[in-house]
Amino acid sequence: MRTSEAHTKSSVGFADLKIKDIVATNFRAAQVFEKYGIDYCCHGNRQLGEALQEKNLAVSEIHNQLNALEEQGSDDSNKYSEWDLDFLAQFIVNTHHAYVKKSIPQIKDHLAKVINAHGKKYSYLAEVEAAFDSIAAELTSHMMKEENILFPLIHYLTETKKFNERPKTGGYGTIKNPIRRMEEEHSSAGEVLSTMKKLTNNYTLPKDACTTFKVTYEELKEFELDLHKHIHLENNILFPKAIELEEELLKL
Ligand SMILES: [Fe+2]
Repeated sequence: MRTSEAHTKSSVGFADLKIKDIVATNFRAAQVFEKYGIDYCCHGNRQLGEALQEKNLAVSEIHNQLNALEEQGSDDSNKYSEWDLDFLAQFIVNTHHAYVKKSIPQIKDHLAKVINAHGKKYSYLAEVEAAFDSIAAELTSHMMKEENILFPLIHYLTETKKFNERPKTGGYGTIKNPIRRMEEEHSSAGEVLSTMKKLTNNYTLPKDACTTFKVTYEELKEFELDLHKHIHLENNILFPKAIELEEELLKL
């Protein structure tokens, strides 16, 4: 399904498309989904109509905005679906994993300062800190598993493809098993992000917020956006393509 195909559909037909496919063909669509709080990464496998119904949103409104994106022309987002899988995995490590690793200590430090200054008055800040600590620990171990187990497996599959060889399946069974595990961990991270959003009332600052408070909320919002894109690239592009590649090679 190409973007143009998606955008020439009527709004009713449009509602039948899967959210992940809309974003995979034009990443700019993610901005529209972020605006309406539509989950395109962990729950991207749903039809757009279903997600809109749940939020009481009109299909026509989203349809018009996605059509407007089409008029802006294509961006370079389509390239992710075209990349070699090994290259995409490396891109995720160099861009998104690197960002998470760099941001964690910085955000922790800022959160501690904000709690020190405002923690008594705004008691929910301690819960935000606990939620961030848990997502930081989960992601640190998650990324390690991807970098040491899953991504090397994807590299192995791309190598066997080059030599047109049947891949050996290891103790993990097929690649679907570690992928399922990673997807579960993505969902868990997604839930912590929504908890943080609720605790902070969608990162709404109190009137007396100091500069560090403002900076910390901006950092948390950026962290959330980056994680949405990161999970989208894995759940909706890298993982299904790796499963497809393994299935193709196992027929050899
Ligand atoms: Fe991941």
